[in-house]
Amino acid sequence: MSSSDLLQKSFRAVSKCMLPKDTFKGKVAFVTGGGTGIGRAITERLSEMGASCCIVSRKLDVLDKTAEDIQKSIPGSKIITAAADVRNPDAVAIAVDKCVKDLGLPNIVINNAAGNFISPTERLSSNAFRSVIDIVLMGTINVTMDIAKRLIEAKQGANFLGITTIYAHYGSGYVVPSACAKSGVQTLHRSLASEWGKYGFRFNCIAPGPIYTKGAFSRLDPSGQFSDQMMNRIPTKRLGELEEISNLAAYLVSDYSSWMTGEVINFDGGELMSMVGEFNSLEKVPQEQWDELTAMIKNVKGS
Ligand code: HXC
Ligand code: NAP
Repeated sequence: MSSSDLLQKSFRAVSKCMLPKDTFKGKVAFVTGGGTGIGRAITERLSEMGASCCIVSRKLDVLDKTAEDIQKSIPGSKIITAAADVRNPDAVAIAVDKCVKDLGLPNIVINNAAGNFISPTERLSSNAFRSVIDIVLMGTINVTMDIAKRLIEAKQGANFLGITTIYAHYGSGYVVPSACAKSGVQTLHRSLASEWGKYGFRFNCIAPGPIYTKGAFSRLDPSGQFSDQMMNRIPTKRLGELEEISNLAAYLVSDYSSWMTGEVINFDGGELMSMVGEFNSLEKVPQEQWDELTAMIKNVKGS
């Protein structure tokens, strides 16, 4: 077995649910972008543990199909759908009204909806920048503000979770609108963790590295030529899996993490660490050459 096969095996994702089945019994989750990819996986995980979910995005047909699939595969689960563009606060308010009427006020809010694509920044129009920033940052603000105001009025606490990215910390070329917006989402969560702790709200984020979803990879690696490079710099030598991120998300919005707030958890198989370490590229130096290099260092005289 090659070392990469071994790594794959030793770091295999756990596909089972890590929390008790009734963790979210009686809870209501509001999940943006819940019809596809990571949002769908989180919706499935929360449903599996008893939450009723309201999934929200622009495409009602996609949401309805996801709701139907999950309700079929998880007996007793309840998922409602609401079409809304998170950029529009009035549309968000209508979606939240529907959630409140059919399920109740949310106890869990997953700000997962996003827009992104790779592009040299000088090619971007003002509208291209605005589209991504409005979806990611204003969308998160619209959802958070609308739901939080209702919860404050009702004196009900809740757990908020933002899905950001590892490049939200230090920025990244070629996805600049997304980098700007995602760091804003992290700042929003950290700020409100402090200001709104008094209302019984917790705010955390997951900053994932690459996890295969059609929505992300069709816009970030449309030709498929960048994925190998990406994989090679991830110390665990594989992409993340939906089952893994949904387990972490479930933990962060459950009472098992009740003293954790204002945190941003990197979830990337070590990719960020591998990119920031000054000498990490020495990984490429062959073992034989290390004898030579060590001898050279040991022979240094003086100073
Ligand atoms: C340059 C582009 C562009 C591109 C769109 N635009 N795509 N500019 N390069 N590839 C420009 C358009 O020309 C237009 O500007 C403006 O952006 C708005 O485009 P629309 O298509 O009208 O916008 P809209 O229909 O609102 O769609 C939003 C979108 C789209 C962001 C452009 O991609 C989308 O709907 N995405 C949603 C799902 C998604 O992105 N999922 C991936 C998340 S993955 P002009 O000036 O012409 O009007 C993710 C992972 C990160 O975030 C981390 C990975 C490791
Ligand atoms: P995805 O499947 O494309 O998910 C994006 C979701 O956002 C879609 O369901 C989309 O639904 C919804 N959405 C987009 N614009 C919207 C709008 N204006 N209003 C309402 N909903 C909108 O991609 P994904 O990979 O699962 O991404 C989910 C989250 O993970 C995003 O926040 C992304 O930045 C983050 N992330 C992903 C990766 C990765 O490698 N996959 C890595 C780091 C972070 P509609 O089209 O129906 O609106």
